[in-house]
Amino acid sequence: MTSHEIRQKFLDFFEARKHVIVPSSSLLPANDATTLFTGSGMQPMMPYLLGEPHPLGKRIADIQKSFRADDIDEVGDNRHTTFFEMLGNWSFGDYWKKEQLAWIFEFLTKEVGIDPARLYVTVFAGDEKNGIPRDTESPAIWKQLFEEAGIDAKEADLITLANASKVGMKDSRIFFYGAEKNWWSRAGRPDTMPAGEPGGPDSEIFYQFDVPHDPSYGKECHPNCDCGRFLEIGNSVFMEYKKLPDGTFELLKQRNVDFGGGFERITAAAQNQPDIFSTDVFEPLIQILPDDGVDERVKRIITDHSRAAAFLIADGIVPSNKEQGYVLRRLMRRVIVQCHLNGIELEAIHNIFEKIVELCGAYYPELNIEKIKSAFDAENEKFQKTFKNGLRELEKLDSVDGVSAFRLYESFGLPFEVIREVARNKASGLTREDFETERKRHQEISRAGAGKKFGGHGMKEGDLTAGDAEEMKKKTRLHTATHIIVAALQKVLGQKLPQAGSDITAERLRFDFTFPRKVTPEELKQAEDIANDIVAKDLPVTAQEMDLKEALDSGASAFFKLKYPPRVKVYTIGDEKNWFSRELCGGPHVTHTGEIGRITITKEESVSGGARRIRAVVD
Ligand code: ALA
Repeated sequence: MTSHEIRQKFLDFFEARKHVIVPSSSLLPANDATTLFTGSGMQPMMPYLLGEPHPLGKRIADIQKSFRADDIDEVGDNRHTTFFEMLGNWSFGDYWKKEQLAWIFEFLTKEVGIDPARLYVTVFAGDEKNGIPRDTESPAIWKQLFEEAGIDAKEADLITLANASKVGMKDSRIFFYGAEKNWWSRAGRPDTMPAGEPGGPDSEIFYQFDVPHDPSYGKECHPNCDCGRFLEIGNSVFMEYKKLPDGTFELLKQRNVDFGGGFERITAAAQNQPDIFSTDVFEPLIQILPDDGVDERVKRIITDHSRAAAFLIADGIVPSNKEQGYVLRRLMRRVIVQCHLNGIELEAIHNIFEKIVELCGAYYPELNIEKIKSAFDAENEKFQKTFKNGLRELEKLDSVDGVSAFRLYESFGLPFEVIREVARNKASGLTREDFETERKRHQEISRAGAGKKFGGHGMKEGDLTAGDAEEMKKKTRLHTATHIIVAALQKVLGQKLPQAGSDITAERLRFDFTFPRKVTPEELKQAEDIANDIVAKDLPVTAQEMDLKEALDSGASAFFKLKYPPRVKVYTIGDEKNWFSRELCGGPHVTHTGEIGRITITKEESVSGGARRIRAVVD
């Protein structure tokens, strides 16, 4: 069965079961400030999962373009990709577990022709702490479905990954895991979900290849083992819960089904091919690259990244130094450097683009070959001028850490992935986190210096879409909350806390500071109380530009180790004379602390270099 047939069969199968087929949404989320990219089929469906009626009814199916930047580091093995297509079907308060599991089993075994004896499933074991019960319906339905296929499906309680790799398969087919594995929401497991977020137990389907277990991944193999014997090919999420501001869960107004199946992985299972790059989705692309002398891993990286770049460009993303553009730039530059290092002509990348358009153009008419090629060429032209000098600089270094890696990025445009790959052993101590911390620090400096741009998130006012604006609002509240927590902690711990980096997403804030020991839960609670008292007092937040010396003399906090320009911007919380917090910062911030909402410190931990890290959220 070819991959094209699988796409078509999926849509036909669900259309025959009264689903309306909708086209894929853009990789650039339209109204979702929580992520940079569409990373699953359900993201564009959020409003309907929460109860808004879908204009086309309660049953929808599609094939959604998806991109997960988090997987960049995994690309190179036989199954990870950054870009993938997700087969999706949804019930918005309509059918439930019985229909969903039966249909998906029928689709995989009868339509795609997968041998049911190779399928293994997982179900939700419950989450006592959050009061969410074990799923008892799904295993019963699975048992029946396997029985009809002539298979006696036994159940096993594995619960945690650690336990699973100890006890193994136990001759079973239906496996219970806890929230670590069998719970799905955009924000992960129940504990990490923000208030208002929907989620639910899920049931995953795994395909078993004929490869032996690799014990370096754990003593015993089990469906969620990463050794490559099992591949997750589909996930039925039973989305029926919502997290409340007090941290408990309530049932949503409707019970939803959110199914997502990895198209490339289902194809791999259909072709019984454990290497997805050897399926007909990738093989025609891989074949364009020279046959000998190029490492398989490199070929997979070039192919994956070229494919992702083609789809991102087609959706209007332009390479830049921020947000989505920054990710696209890194993908393209890694391709360019790998071609250079392996003696591959860039013409090959054009040929890969052409092949992608030939193979996928019918499903994705936005794939415009001229647009893709010219965006790639323009980036190549910019990068060609500097990257060879960068590689020469890199050669001269004895070891590479976050600071020197960032310098190579800033001066020569070498992305993190490239530096780590080329430097190999010399970069053994280099982590992505160190690099990003350094990058953010530099952004802080240039912002504190300029103070002209709208906001500290690197956007000009005119760049904002409605989704961006919402995200900015959330980040702004978290940004001011960071200043408040830092000041509160300084009061509780009775000393200045040199800051060593911060990172704010739309969901949470995070900052690092130097302190020689663990901050106790009591101290964290005191700091949290002080912070919430400042919120309750609704103090003014004001900005001033002043000389660096004047700012530091007035007691303003600054980032440890940073070099600031002579004129800086300073944010003050509270009265000019009797302030609560004063920091050198580019902003933006709320104008009154009351806008922030309740602050909760969620975690304190140690990070490298003797620093502590705090995470917090606001309601
Ligand atoms: N939304 C679910 C997933 O991405 C189906 O796994």
